[in-house]
Amino acid sequence: MFKPLLMFLLLSFFPLYSQYKVIIDTDPGIDDAVAILLAFQSPEIEVIGLTSTFGNHDIDVTTKNCQILLELAEKKIPIAKGFKGPLVIPKRPNPDFVHGRDGLGNLFLEPNQKEGNYEDADSFIIRSILENPKEITFIGLGPLTNLASALLKEPKIASLVKEVIVFAGAIYYPGNCNPLAEANVWSDPHAADIVFSSGLPLTTICLNASKKPQLTKQILNEIERANPKIGVFLNQINQFYIDFYLSQNPSLEGANIHDSLTIAYLLNKDLFSWVEGPICVVKEGIAEGATLMDTSSSNEFSPWNERPKVRACIDCKEKEVVALMVERLSSTS
Ligand code: BDR
Ligand code: CA
Repeated sequence: MFKPLLMFLLLSFFPLYSQYKVIIDTDPGIDDAVAILLAFQSPEIEVIGLTSTFGNHDIDVTTKNCQILLELAEKKIPIAKGFKGPLVIPKRPNPDFVHGRDGLGNLFLEPNQKEGNYEDADSFIIRSILENPKEITFIGLGPLTNLASALLKEPKIASLVKEVIVFAGAIYYPGNCNPLAEANVWSDPHAADIVFSSGLPLTTICLNASKKPQLTKQILNEIERANPKIGVFLNQINQFYIDFYLSQNPSLEGANIHDSLTIAYLLNKDLFSWVEGPICVVKEGIAEGATLMDTSSSNEFSPWNERPKVRACIDCKEKEVVALMVERLSSTS
């Protein structure tokens, strides 16, 4: 009687502190870096580890970039090293033209700690979820290879993870790698298909939702002025990223923030709208990487029938999302 009352009172007075224990699986990546710092700047979130994956660069570089981010944010949490390529298909070329030849806007930074004794990412994911049943939120910002491998090795984690939020897919919306495929799914369609069919409590944020919110040079200057400790870095790495977006579409004001939307969704689901349905991933051919959702429960022989429903975010309140990001990234407390 006394204990629940005490818990209730504590939660009422300190509602913001470490509500979520989070693993971030990531391929930094400029928008990954923004998302990770956004999580670190959010008191509701306790990041218990970063798991690196190939994607925006080779695994050695994305793992090094994780270390750079931990040192910048002065966080002493583990990095677990992930897969160097997809489960079945050959690895795609690195998108240097989006994220730079170092994955972080061509600044060629070096961490103080050069090499670590890294646990494998899939083992770290399995161990963390089994040791903290129903407590871990998994955030996926890259190809879904590490999570798919963890599910293959220990299917029990599907029912023991609290929530999974990934940036992956495009629901009947133009892709950014081919006319239908989003980059994280296209980079490892087999892994994405395993994750989408696993029955995890899964939300995927899709390109449909990330098209609108933009990070502009003006906003980055504002963040830099308010919080130079991370703002200078954010401003520098994003120059390259924004220039890429503007070169693609001069009517834009800045760059799409993709990965940060997973953190914004975790913090405030009211900022998003979604559709729900089973998703099959196209694993080969001209539409490789397309995420096809059945929204109609078509017929009894449909391959979608066997699959669990996935929540796919297709829109967001972009002004509120950007305001949330600016508020958190500018905070020095
Ligand atoms: C996704 O692909 C990567 O380039 C970004 O980091 C993001 O995770 C956008 O499609
Ligand atoms: Ca990413």
